[in-house]
Amino acid sequence: MAATWLNDAVFYEIYPQSFFDSNGDGIGDIPGMTQKLDYILSLGCNALWINPCFDSPFKDAGYDVRDYKKVAPRYGSNEDLIHFFREAHRRGIRVLLDLVPCHTSEEHPWFRESCREAENEYSHRYIWTDSCWTQPQGIPFVGGEAPRDGCYILSFFKSQPALNFGFGNPTASWQQKAGSPATLETREAIWDVMRFWLEQGCDGFRVDMAGALVKADTPDQAYTQAVYRDLRQRLDRDFPEAALVAEWNVPKHSLNCGFDMDFYLSWAGNGYHSLMRNYDPADYPAGPDRSYFKADSGADPMHFLAEYLPNYLDTCGKGLWCFITGNHDTTRPRFNLTPEELKIAYSFLFTMPGAPFLYYGDEIGMRYRRLPNKEGGFNRTGSRTPMQWTGGKNLGFSQGAPEALYLPVDPAEDAPTVQAQEADPNSLLNYTRAVIALRHSRPDLQARSPFQVYFAQPGSRLLAYRRGKLLCVVNPGRETLALELDRPYAPLFTQGQAELSGNTLAIQGFAVLTPRG
Ligand code: NOJ
Repeated sequence: MAATWLNDAVFYEIYPQSFFDSNGDGIGDIPGMTQKLDYILSLGCNALWINPCFDSPFKDAGYDVRDYKKVAPRYGSNEDLIHFFREAHRRGIRVLLDLVPCHTSEEHPWFRESCREAENEYSHRYIWTDSCWTQPQGIPFVGGEAPRDGCYILSFFKSQPALNFGFGNPTASWQQKAGSPATLETREAIWDVMRFWLEQGCDGFRVDMAGALVKADTPDQAYTQAVYRDLRQRLDRDFPEAALVAEWNVPKHSLNCGFDMDFYLSWAGNGYHSLMRNYDPADYPAGPDRSYFKADSGADPMHFLAEYLPNYLDTCGKGLWCFITGNHDTTRPRFNLTPEELKIAYSFLFTMPGAPFLYYGDEIGMRYRRLPNKEGGFNRTGSRTPMQWTGGKNLGFSQGAPEALYLPVDPAEDAPTVQAQEADPNSLLNYTRAVIALRHSRPDLQARSPFQVYFAQPGSRLLAYRRGKLLCVVNPGRETLALELDRPYAPLFTQGQAELSGNTLAIQGFAVLTPRG
């Protein structure tokens, strides 16, 4: 855990194709991101995660990498990205790139070589069976497509063959043991990519499908962990301030092997999900929404706490388990929550331990739209639409023709925009800024400051938690509720109603209290 800057980090996630188009071709680009750095700074975000921006056929929005060391021409050049790092750093903003180690595109030159009949340097870079009649059991694969006599296994979509990090427990002759020479070559190749971008000035990586490197791993993912432990040692030696965040959501594994951070991902039925997205998207809004932050849900935070607390305690002191407003794979939180409900949800997300991640556009409450599939987005496409900057043409995203846009902008009359919300003191945008500023101003609210539940009860909408000396109180329901306090407090920050009389707090909304005297 070398990256000391994480303690006060607030991340902003940029989906590059939809952020800002600087050249009018309808697709967001790196010079566009550079132009918007001051906006990002104005939010209080001091770190970025950029979704993959590398050369790709874009069958999975860039998670199918064709050349790890080349910026996709539609986003600009490597020089543009290096300039972006410099401009970000000048403003005190760190930049994480997206590292995709589990698979490449089927168009990657390594894979093309691997498909050849004749044995070559890349024959074992991917996982092949020893004949096209030997089909892997229980693992998705492709057979009969390549000159080589064998089937290759897939990592995600059909276009994403799995890189060979080996098997924890090989059960067939074609399965190589994790740690065998060919798998070490794959590891070297990924390290080479990491070093390349760190030398150009990036500050670390978000690691895609981090827990899926080694197949048939042990229950505690010991072989996958061993790979990261080795990579971490190299980072500590050569780039000690570099940060890694895992897309894993098993913090007791990820934070044990060298990741600084893991995401608390939105998985159906899990604790985070119960707070934000506890509805069935297929019949929403007709069906019920039981999310804790939905004002009328009546839900308590017990399901969340039952999952969060043991994980928090397991990992505290080791690394950060990070909350997200959403990401490019989730529905946007504005799909089910109103701007007023989002204010309470964000109050919570930005005052919890870990480093919070704000997905672009969630600060203005951009909507989720049901849209046709784009670049392998399928139902995720609706969370990937262009950022809404201003009124007028393409809502300020692009000077291009509307038909040329990566995805259509929100056509609603009242589509939220940065411009409109900057002018409104009560906007979600200005509220988000205020909560982030509060976090920066109080070390007690930052990443590693202790967390303790002060009040939560089955059937109660109230959740109160200590962060260091401060007490945070949430009541997302409509009814004002009373909370008995253990000593005199003074309000430091409130949203909604929060009245103290003696040692009783009457609250509807959110408050941060500081001990008096
Ligand atoms: C997780 C990424 O977040 C998602 O967008 C992608 O499709 C898969 N990994 C495959 O790389």
